[in-house]
Amino acid sequence: MSVFSESYGFNAFSSSLFFSIVCMVVLPFLIIREIFKPIDQRKAPAGKQWKLPPGPRGIPIFGSLLEFRKARSDSAQLSQWLSSLSQYGEMTTVHLGSKTWVLLNSDRVVSELIAKRGALTSERPDLPIASSLVSNDKRSVLRRSARWAEGRRAMHHLLNGAALRTYGGWQELETAHLLAACLLQPRRWHKHHFRYANSVVHWIVLGERLLRPTPELDALLAVTIEFVRAINASLVDFFPRLAALPRVLQPWRAYWARMGAAHRAVFVAWWEPVKRAVEAGTAPASFVRDGLLAEDTAYCGTDEEAMYLALSVVSAGSDNTRLALNTFVMAVLCHPGVFERARREIDGVCGDGGGSGAGGGTGAGSGTGTGAATASTLRLPTLADMPALPFTCAIIKELLRWRPLVPTIPPHDLTQDLDFEGYRFPAGISFVINSIAVCNAVPDPDAFRPERWIDGKGGEANITEGLWQFGGGRRVCVGYRVAQMELFIAVARLIAGFDYKANGPYDSRRLRHDIMDEPFPVTVSVRSKAYEELILREAERLGVLQSAKDGF
Ligand code: HEM
Ligand SMILES: *[C@@H]1O[C@H](CO)[C@@H](O)[C@H](O)[C@H]1NC(C)=O
Ligand SMILES: *[C@@H]1O[C@H](CO)[C@@H](O)[C@H](O)[C@H]1NC(C)=O
Repeated sequence: MSVFSESYGFNAFSSSLFFSIVCMVVLPFLIIREIFKPIDQRKAPAGKQWKLPPGPRGIPIFGSLLEFRKARSDSAQLSQWLSSLSQYGEMTTVHLGSKTWVLLNSDRVVSELIAKRGALTSERPDLPIASSLVSNDKRSVLRRSARWAEGRRAMHHLLNGAALRTYGGWQELETAHLLAACLLQPRRWHKHHFRYANSVVHWIVLGERLLRPTPELDALLAVTIEFVRAINASLVDFFPRLAALPRVLQPWRAYWARMGAAHRAVFVAWWEPVKRAVEAGTAPASFVRDGLLAEDTAYCGTDEEAMYLALSVVSAGSDNTRLALNTFVMAVLCHPGVFERARREIDGVCGDGGGSGAGGGTGAGSGTGTGAATASTLRLPTLADMPALPFTCAIIKELLRWRPLVPTIPPHDLTQDLDFEGYRFPAGISFVINSIAVCNAVPDPDAFRPERWIDGKGGEANITEGLWQFGGGRRVCVGYRVAQMELFIAVARLIAGFDYKANGPYDSRRLRHDIMDEPFPVTVSVRSKAYEELILREAERLGVLQSAKDGF
């Protein structure tokens, strides 16, 4: 064999190796990259050119998806990542797999894009896992607009004045239970928050109070937790084209479809008895009875859709309220002076039981407000006191700003190409409210300052004004008025009646929302004898004393 042929052979080998590499690695890489390219990186149609805000470059195919998933595993890390992205300006473009997210980092651009242009920015993305498989395409919060609109109309029942007045009465009763439970079993304070939050929404939607834990309740909570996990765990939702592959090439389907079936079975177990009671005419007032299944209902979804709608409201409406109440307790530990001021405001309206403050704990109000009452005229604040308690109203907003419960509001997809302030956005991108950035874009963001919401025009009493924790536009949380009332009445009454003291180390940036045990160590004690008597009397009057004693 000559040297020449040897070198020839070598060359043949190396070039075939080269070709193999091209065929097996580079070509598939290029093809895959092409298939999964985010819309703004594909070739624009003739005559068009996109221009998006700046953002991190990311890696091929995945963009910033891996970084995002890593940050998402820890709330403090996620906050840090989201706030670092606001360095690009009021808007930041982030590529996550095939998805283009334009993060909205300021109140101004959220208001412009999500609220004012809501007609164009209210679609949900195609989510083959979290929506199609896990939710059978029927959970309202993720449904695409065409099939979402009918249910949304029905849900507006939750925002109407007459229904809200009825619900307000229930919330006052539930808070009487909450206070008695905190008095009788103070170490279980976080469990009482949990029961209260769940009970209010069960009552509103299904017409029944929750008095004790049951296997059905556990199952429903597990469903909510799994659903939230499905939203952030599924890579496929960031590469929705994968759902177009033949089913044998989608090995992940079976797992998520089984989860969807299991969730449906849990929903059916809750739905069937309520539906039977409505049909038999024995059901008490509720959203299901009066908003969905009434004889004269305008709702024309199927029974299956009605079930998903009702249970979607239950799951959307319970946990956030619990988290907000836990955040309230954390805020009292960190900023006691603010709560002394709120207590003075409440005392001025409802009396203070004759200048008490014997509790001695944080926030014990010794200052008496104007019109302080004696023990016999002392009363609990009510929803009707809202206009007289602007500072307490502002506390609710400040709680949600200080430690936002929803770090990124679910994507609002753009349905038409849009020119906005020098940018040109293609239809199909997602606008995502970066709550962390928006909530921190105020002077001295870590300070807890309710007065920043008091604008002399009643802004503090409107929980959606300038606060985007409930989302915005056509998809805005349909329960925001229920939530505002529910939080106001609970927080006002807890401030009036209880003192909170840290009982060990805590980290106000990690609220441990994910555990069902005490999220941080707190001693809760009733403020005074006068309050103790008042709370027991109220609970007795409303018939909830025994159930509060029994505990949850
Ligand atoms: C502090 C408490 C709450 C927070 C922070 C909250 C937040 C949110 C957010 C961010 C959305 C998505 C909005 C968007 O995409 O723009 C939403 C949707 C929703 N929320 Fe709330 N929420 C709360 C309480 C409630 C309550 C008490 C209820 C029920 C009584 C409720 C029922 C719903 C429903 C049904 C949806 C889906 C609406 C739809 O499908 O169009 N929420 N919520
Ligand atoms: C999904 O979110 C939950 C709650 O924020 C978190 O505990 C979990 O680790 C996340 N999972 C993934 C895969 O990011
Ligand atoms: C509350 O504020 C929102 C957003 O600014 C506004 O659209 C709504 O009309 C206000 N509601 C009331 C009752 O003023």
